[in-house]
Amino acid sequence: MPRRRLRDLVPDSPVMEDPTRFPDRMRIHSRGPVDGTLDLPGSKSLTNRALLCATLADGTSTLTRVLDADDTRVMIHCLTRLGGSVTKTGETVTVQGTGGSLHASPQPLDVAASGTTARFITAAATIADGPSIIDGTPRMRRRPIGELLATLLSLGADVEVLGEEGGLPVRVAGGGLAGGHAVIDARRSSQFVSAIALAAPYAARDTSLEFRDGVLVSRPYVESTIEVMRAFGVHAELHQKGMQVPRGEYQPILYEVEPDASAAAYPLVAAAITAGSVTLPGFRRDSSQADLAILDVLTAMGCRVEWTGSEVTLTGPAHGLQGVEVDMGRMPDAVLAVAVAAAFATGSTRLTNVSNLRIKESDRLAALETELRKMGVEAEAGPDWLSVRSGLVHGAEIDTYEDHRMAMAFTLAGLVVPGVVIRDPGCVAKTWPTFFEDLERLWPEGGRVARVPAEDGGTTTRLVVAIDGPGGAGKTTVSRGVADRLNLPHLDTGAFYRAAALAVIRSEVDPDDAGLVAEVVRNAEYDYRDGVMLLDDEDVNDAIRRPEVTSYASKLSVVAAVREVLVGHQRAWVERQGGSAVVEGRDIGTVVFPDALVKIFITARPEVRAIRRAGELTDSAESLAGIALELERRDRRDSTRKTSPLRSAPDAVAVDTSDMTIDEVIDRILEEVGQRSAGS
Ligand code: DC
Repeated sequence: MPRRRLRDLVPDSPVMEDPTRFPDRMRIHSRGPVDGTLDLPGSKSLTNRALLCATLADGTSTLTRVLDADDTRVMIHCLTRLGGSVTKTGETVTVQGTGGSLHASPQPLDVAASGTTARFITAAATIADGPSIIDGTPRMRRRPIGELLATLLSLGADVEVLGEEGGLPVRVAGGGLAGGHAVIDARRSSQFVSAIALAAPYAARDTSLEFRDGVLVSRPYVESTIEVMRAFGVHAELHQKGMQVPRGEYQPILYEVEPDASAAAYPLVAAAITAGSVTLPGFRRDSSQADLAILDVLTAMGCRVEWTGSEVTLTGPAHGLQGVEVDMGRMPDAVLAVAVAAAFATGSTRLTNVSNLRIKESDRLAALETELRKMGVEAEAGPDWLSVRSGLVHGAEIDTYEDHRMAMAFTLAGLVVPGVVIRDPGCVAKTWPTFFEDLERLWPEGGRVARVPAEDGGTTTRLVVAIDGPGGAGKTTVSRGVADRLNLPHLDTGAFYRAAALAVIRSEVDPDDAGLVAEVVRNAEYDYRDGVMLLDDEDVNDAIRRPEVTSYASKLSVVAAVREVLVGHQRAWVERQGGSAVVEGRDIGTVVFPDALVKIFITARPEVRAIRRAGELTDSAESLAGIALELERRDRRDSTRKTSPLRSAPDAVAVDTSDMTIDEVIDRILEEVGQRSAGS
């Protein structure tokens, strides 16, 4: 499929990727090792820098391999509003420069969710011939810009914040920059420095910036800025503690945008984690794109990297990746892909110096921690670090937080483990609209990487471990242990029947009036948190274990209307946990989650179950024989009732726990999880 081309640009609104092209959720297919060559989209950073330089240049520039994505469309939209003229010719873009005379935009400039556009356009608007207002999405409004505004003020610009302090929207008066010396706080974003550098050649004087505390975060991005400016004929200089930008004019040129090194992270990690191989053409070995240093990180994790001219090939290790400890300060955008690689490595990985990930498209450290944990990975985020240790990794529904890199990184995880579903996959359009299609080229045989999951209530796409069986077989202890080992939530559905029984007993309605009973059950509220059953927000864990509740729960569970209500609550509970859980009960594999990936039916000989039950009922005066009799009675009722009788699903694995220790049972179930996950 050819790369998408820039659309005809409408001057009065950013032309964004059609969001309806993407489904709400996409299921990723786990595939074998990748083996292919991928022509990556152009670098977003370089594209947006080159578009601005070309618009300021005096004459016509031609840019090739321009990235066509939301962030670059937004940049083009704003530049067009400021008087630039940008048109596409086949795969290249032609820019009629303005010779540095930008025209103020009568309508607000919408930077949408693009950080580079927000910062670059705010600085560029200072040299326009009148005032402009710059605004963006709610998330963009919360991203910082105050440091940039402060420095623009000290360089003689007139800027005003219209909304919350330090964020968009802002009004930039225009009329020119004075230039001169200024201090800039570049501890949170290098884009403030790049923004000023790009506009500064058009100031009245040479500009010299001094970094507050001598700190410049993400320095390589400023190096990229200088490289692009140099290509357009302006020679700025970056020092340890500041930079100098001379007055000057950009020259119109033919500029080839290098492929995007941040995008390269995804096919590279795909090769690393599938023990495959990928070749990426078009890079310079001395590229200013810092994200290319992911090659060093993956080498340290055990991959092999080879350069042939401008092509780089990475091969993943046949026997698994190794964890690493690495300072990611120079390549923050690569952190998400590396974190996913770490999820499949032996040993632990620690990624440090990544505090500014908290102010990107999402709070990426928090997002990574939450979503990796959903997949059974031990992840922990600190203020400026992330640690990752592999576990029994399994599929899950992944929230992407409107963050393209979350969607792309977790798609890779789905290539290795089945059951990964990406929510809102359309967010990839921000930087790589054809990500899913492009990824498919990594397998010589082709075939789909993603598809829309069947609309089935979602039960087929998650890792549900259904554990059914009669009372006293050891379900609860074993289920808790399995959930612990898989890092999944655990749900005891029996507690719902018990809580419903308690609600009915407390209501004092006639327990034989099915209609009234169902009404009471329907009106109560149920929740289950960390092993505690809540009935109408009250902890009823002890109350529901009383003998009269136990006995009535069994009778109540025969009522179809009651089952219907409680099954609904149980499914909703699992949904709220992200769709994966270890669920124990009597009808989980047959009724509640008939599509559960793993179904276990655990039993034990009656006398063993009676002994175990007796152990649970410490304050019971009942004899063993009495307990055995009661168990038998409940079994009979559970197995012979019309609605959802206790029986093993045909595809369940039977485990007789009579002569097994708890750990043996847990190991047996985990073995089954491993096999089913690998086979699906
Ligand atoms: O597992 P337990 O003893 O806590 O269950 C209490 C009652 O609820 C028991 O009589 C069986 C019934 N039950 C059911 O019918 N379906 C379930 N999924 C779970 C429990």
